[in-house]
Amino acid sequence: MSNKHGARFISFASPKGGVGKSTSCLAIAGALLAQGVKVRIIDFDQTETIWRWYTTSPAAQQIANLTVEQGPHSDHGDYISSLWGGATDYVLLDLAGSLSELTLMIAAFATLTITPAKVSEPDIIEANKMANKLHAVARRVSKPINHRILLNEVPNIVSRDEVDLIEQIDSSNLARFQTIIRRRSSYSKSFSRGTLPHFADPINPKAIAEIDDLMREIDAIFENDQLKAAA
Ligand SMILES: Nc1ncnc2c1ncn2[C@@H]1O[C@H](COP(=O)(O)OP(=O)(O)OP(=O)(O)O)[C@@H](O)[C@H]1O
Ligand SMILES: [Mg+2]
Repeated sequence: MSNKHGARFISFASPKGGVGKSTSCLAIAGALLAQGVKVRIIDFDQTETIWRWYTTSPAAQQIANLTVEQGPHSDHGDYISSLWGGATDYVLLDLAGSLSELTLMIAAFATLTITPAKVSEPDIIEANKMANKLHAVARRVSKPINHRILLNEVPNIVSRDEVDLIEQIDSSNLARFQTIIRRRSSYSKSFSRGTLPHFADPINPKAIAEIDDLMREIDAIFENDQLKAAA
């Protein structure tokens, strides 16, 4: 689903903190900006991770076609309604690590919600909670929901236990991206250096390749929605 301007809304949501919501939000923003589209990031998290990333980095502020703002502390309903009329190509919504009403409201409103998770039992349990709650909201408001788990910070060498856990996810009804985001310093550096993986100097080709793989999967979800809407 996209609004009358064709804007697409991607939210980053998880009940658990520190799983990579802001990191993946920035990585995806960079990939989109490198394609030349307009990106608006809204930081709804009171820890202000992305807001600080932006306001303390002259390099980030010079990236063309990027705007970053903070979400409001109240009157969320009106704010979200007003977002719908906006004309930016992609609106990325970075949410606090919680299962609050606000998180659920925004995640249900978004065209796609991404829940990053490490390959660890606690993260997968929390991602499952997010999926269940979101699908419950979807049933209540009769709105189709696109929700995907993004396996993040995956080490280069995966243990037998981690392989088992990935197999368990794949045999469950948790939907995940096939692309796996590895643990790489280029992601943590995009925070500390106030840049984005696609705009770093030098870029890390492996990071860029995996983010672009992820973007292809995201595009396929949006294209599928368009086909369904046209049918
Ligand atoms: N793929 C990765 N490789 C290396 N470091 C990573 C990766 N993903 C996240 N990190 C690091 O892990 C930490 C937590 O990531 P991040 O802030 O994106 O999580 P979050 O889910 O947004 O947390 P919060 O709930 O506090 O907002 C950061 O220091 C970030 O740099
Ligand atoms: Mg964050």
